[in-house]
Amino acid sequence: MKKFIMLILTLLLFSCTKGRESVSLIIYNGNDPFINSMANNIERESSDLFNIEKFDSKNFQINQNEFINQCIDNKTSLIMLNPVDRLGVYPIIRKLKANNIPVILFNREPLKKDLDIWEKAFYVGTKGEQSAQIQGEIIYNLFGSNPLKLNNLDKNSNNEIEIVILKGEQGHQDAEIRTTEVVNSLKSKGYKLNILVTEVANWKRSEAYEKMKAIINKYGNSIELVISNNDEMAIGGIDALIESNMFQDLDQNGIINKETEPWIPVVGIDGLQEAIILVRNGYLAGTVVNDSVLQAKAIVELANILLHNKSLTQLTFDIIDNKYIMLDYRILQ
Ligand code: GAL
Repeated sequence: MKKFIMLILTLLLFSCTKGRESVSLIIYNGNDPFINSMANNIERESSDLFNIEKFDSKNFQINQNEFINQCIDNKTSLIMLNPVDRLGVYPIIRKLKANNIPVILFNREPLKKDLDIWEKAFYVGTKGEQSAQIQGEIIYNLFGSNPLKLNNLDKNSNNEIEIVILKGEQGHQDAEIRTTEVVNSLKSKGYKLNILVTEVANWKRSEAYEKMKAIINKYGNSIELVISNNDEMAIGGIDALIESNMFQDLDQNGIINKETEPWIPVVGIDGLQEAIILVRNGYLAGTVVNDSVLQAKAIVELANILLHNKSLTQLTFDIIDNKYIMLDYRILQ
């Protein structure tokens, strides 16, 4: 009986998925929580439309190249590509063009000239500057609207903000733009800044934790604000700050009471589930939601249009230069 039910279920699954297009989803690194949630959302959004085969490049371009060759050999209908080396996609796009395979790159932005070589190459991403401006807004809400007379978060009352910046991967468009633009946005609000240090922690919690421990050793209580390019590094930083008693949950209720308990403003980007909880509990002063559901919806909608040779005018998202879909960030404070 059990065997019979299994057979029926297998047949049913087969008849549902048979005849559907097969799409390849190649991510740069499955150890990156934001990318993982993006991949899960892409799989969920496309579950009624086409089959997805997922590949994890484990942060090695050489693995990714292998996967791409394999997908070409298997005559995949379309590739969703999160490149390891965003600046090295020229040969990949050329190869996909030669095999007439549409490609939607996402999250790690290629050069326009590389995208331009193949009419069926697209990029879905976010408005980098906007994420930094929103971080600027969060910081403005914290330090007050009078840059000449800061509130008590300016611990040494020098009317300057002593800042530590945790930077993502060097050369990644988000790390570069978020870092320069958050500084520009704070300066344009009239704040005087003293950037104690900018440390690269490659989007990683463990690396940020280690770097933050060394930073605390050097700068200790003079740190007034930690700006992180993403939530993972912000959480690593918070872990180190907790260990150094710069956050103290004195009544042990799991929540930092900003009026009565020691804390320091840390600001992230992504809006990971764990970060949302930390915002609620007072450990993270705010984050900027990098909407992976919306990005997944755009990627899947575009893929569906390309797979059925429909016109790009049917997209419900704005498309720039027939190439780019750039989505909005949101504040979470
Ligand atoms: C960024 C995101 C980071 C990291 C990176 C990977 O957009 O904020 O957390 O996932 O992409 O490319």
